[in-house]
Amino acid sequence: MCPSLLENYVAAMVLSAAGDALGFRNRQWEFLTCGEKIHVQLAEMGGVDKINIAGWRVSDDTVMHLATAEALTAAGTDPDFTRLYSLLARNYRDCMDDMSGRAPGGTCMHYATLLEPDEPEGWKIPFSKSGGGCGAAMRSMCVGLRFCHPEQLESLIQVSIESGRMTHHHPTGYLGSLASALFTSYAVNRKPPQEWGKGLMTVLPKAKAYIQESACFVEENLQHWNYFESKWDQYLKIRGISDGKSPPSFPAEYGVKERDEFYTSLSYSGWGGSSGHDAPMIAYDAILGSGNNWTELAHRGIFHGGDNDSTGAIAACWWGAMYGFQGVSKTNYRDIEYRDRLEKVAGELYHLSLAAKRD
Ligand code: AR6
Ligand code: MG
Repeated sequence: MCPSLLENYVAAMVLSAAGDALGFRNRQWEFLTCGEKIHVQLAEMGGVDKINIAGWRVSDDTVMHLATAEALTAAGTDPDFTRLYSLLARNYRDCMDDMSGRAPGGTCMHYATLLEPDEPEGWKIPFSKSGGGCGAAMRSMCVGLRFCHPEQLESLIQVSIESGRMTHHHPTGYLGSLASALFTSYAVNRKPPQEWGKGLMTVLPKAKAYIQESACFVEENLQHWNYFESKWDQYLKIRGISDGKSPPSFPAEYGVKERDEFYTSLSYSGWGGSSGHDAPMIAYDAILGSGNNWTELAHRGIFHGGDNDSTGAIAACWWGAMYGFQGVSKTNYRDIEYRDRLEKVAGELYHLSLAAKRD
């Protein structure tokens, strides 16, 4: 039976937090570089179904995802995004007080504390050559829940870019935010996953046009634009899905070791999933390879050597947006930290999306 759309919204938020906590494992797995070692420990625990998430804290990814989601719902249906941007900046700044033991990213921490939500344009930061980390991509999936209708694409582009570049003012950083949001909107609309990559490539020129119109460090942004686009172009060719129609093709041998090698090959500096381009890419690879099987999704998208709490937060969000909680062991999410906040904000995002449909 197909889950209800409300269940999809709730599962997207809750399972994203579970994916984050599972990958993070209170710092033990996020920083373990070898996927095979994670899988040995996982087998000793009896596999993903046997994991009880109680006591496994969520990391910075979920704290910042909640910060984004709660700003979106506080802004309501206001079509002028000035207030939303101020609310986002406030939440990003304030959530830094909740980072103890959660291993926040350096770029997120540095820029979030500089944000001035009460000043006009106090949410804008200068261009940064080192702003290509995945800190923007790991917290924007809910933007796709809020602006999920195809006719809201312009809003999805604007809000994912501006929320992303409040800390990551570099195309590789904020286009990661766009990819995370866009694919979430595709997921709730039941668009077949092999079409998502092509969809992203057709949206990138619109994102570029927005950057040009917004008259904010345009030259620097355009200078560094190509990396994200060319990495995605290469990836889609490797999987044979540039046309958005063909089924994805995977190597005959694609186990834990081979996936680690492939994920590393996609990366900017040898840490698969830590940048704006490869965190959503690895999450997408996991979605393409696992269908509706939660265990497989977890093996591919969460339990790998690399930035696995971020790829986990993204992949599990998209998975929940498509499949709800079906086939997920309750112990994986029942006692997840912040479950009440996650469920509440998911319900509010769902109602905002319905209100938009009625407009
Ligand atoms: N292009 C691509 N990658 C880049 C670039 C660039 N221009 N500049 C830096 N990187 P960091 P965040 C890579 O540490 O984004 C939490 O642990 C860089 O090589 O500033 O603020 C989350 O769970 C580095 O490896 O983090 C995430 O793991 C990577 O960006 C992380 O923090 C991350 O940059 C995200 O937060
Ligand atoms: Mg983290």
